[in-house]
Amino acid sequence: MKIKVLIADDIKETRDIIKKILLLEDEFEIVGEACDGEETLRLIPKLKPDVVLMDINMPVLNGLEATERITKLYPNVIVIIMSVQGESEYLKKAMFYGAKEYIIKPFNYESLIETIKVTYERYKDILSKLNVEEEIRDGKIVTFFSSKGGVGKTVLAVNSAVEFSKTKKTILIDMDLMFGDVSLMVDGANHKTILDTIDDEQLDSYNSLKPYIFGYKENLDILFAPKKPESAEYIGKDSVEKIFKIIKRHYDLIIVDTGINFNDTTLYVLDNSDYILLISTMDIISLKNTKLGLSVMKSLGYDNKKVKIVINRFNTDYGINKGDVEDVFKENIFASIPDDEKTVLPSINNGKPFMDNNKLIKSKLAKAIETLCKTLEV
Ligand SMILES: Nc1ncnc2c1ncn2[C@@H]1O[C@H](COP(=O)(O)OP(=O)(O)O)[C@@H](O)[C@H]1O
Ligand SMILES: [Mg+2]
Repeated sequence: MKIKVLIADDIKETRDIIKKILLLEDEFEIVGEACDGEETLRLIPKLKPDVVLMDINMPVLNGLEATERITKLYPNVIVIIMSVQGESEYLKKAMFYGAKEYIIKPFNYESLIETIKVTYERYKDILSKLNVEEEIRDGKIVTFFSSKGGVGKTVLAVNSAVEFSKTKKTILIDMDLMFGDVSLMVDGANHKTILDTIDDEQLDSYNSLKPYIFGYKENLDILFAPKKPESAEYIGKDSVEKIFKIIKRHYDLIIVDTGINFNDTTLYVLDNSDYILLISTMDIISLKNTKLGLSVMKSLGYDNKKVKIVINRFNTDYGINKGDVEDVFKENIFASIPDDEKTVLPSINNGKPFMDNNKLIKSKLAKAIETLCKTLEV
């Protein structure tokens, strides 16, 4: 097996020289090049290098900070610092941040080859034993919440998750722990649920969580709520926290459906959400409760960047119009989703989200979901 090397240097000539030298030896494979620290960080999960040759002075993110982040995020990657004479302070820092070795520029053929080979040989066994998980992401959390039931949280969460999964690695988590309906909407009623994860004492990594996750389609996984309401009490905040921490590292986006109460598991999720979509329908009771919900959110310290009001089943036939709704919420209404039973009901009854149905995707409702997902900057 070849030693996979990623070259990080802002000067193209330097990269070219290093490439030329390394390619003279059979043992090396150049997996990529980066011109700054940030690009290096971006490339590592894709290219999976064994060794990063890291220049210190680079724009955007310099080699020192990049080294610190790499050794934290990808401890099995060996960073070798390239530095010029007289940068000994920097060198010390680089080693402190976790670089394994350094080499002084300008270097000759032998010293470069030797340094990489020797360092790689010295660390490869130790590092390969590290239990490093394959992917490290930092998923955003988008939670669908309402202070009244039956307003369409689950319908919107499921269909938005399908839409987001077209561009992002997405997981949908059903946190309506008593009356979770997600499994019905995606025809997954027989699959394992979050309750099974709690029974598993080994839950310490993504691999241990995987058997309980339902693969709905490419890029969209789902973790279902328990099948029976009484199971909810077994799922405490600590377990939820553990699960979310693991999941955040493995997905770009975490869509959460919730129940209607502010219990401690829901609060954990709300606290940790990047966005909360507060769903209301156009009736007096829902509007009143949404207004109350909004003031609870305010008292929790969430601003209106985080909490977005979404009016579902938008329909002015029943005595409340757009102006009335806007009067209730001085805050901007983030999105309005049309009332459209012809699209929603068949999709629920067939256990297939309308965003996944060739005919129904042409509906105004589907377009509104598409716009909602686009407008939300995740
Ligand atoms: N945009 C919509 N148009 C028509 N009906 C809808 C719409 N959104 C939801 N519904 C209906 O409302 C019902 C409740 O939706 P659901 O997502 O289960 O609400 P929640 O999760 O908030 O309790 C669903 O059975 C569905 O038929
Ligand atoms: Mg629901």
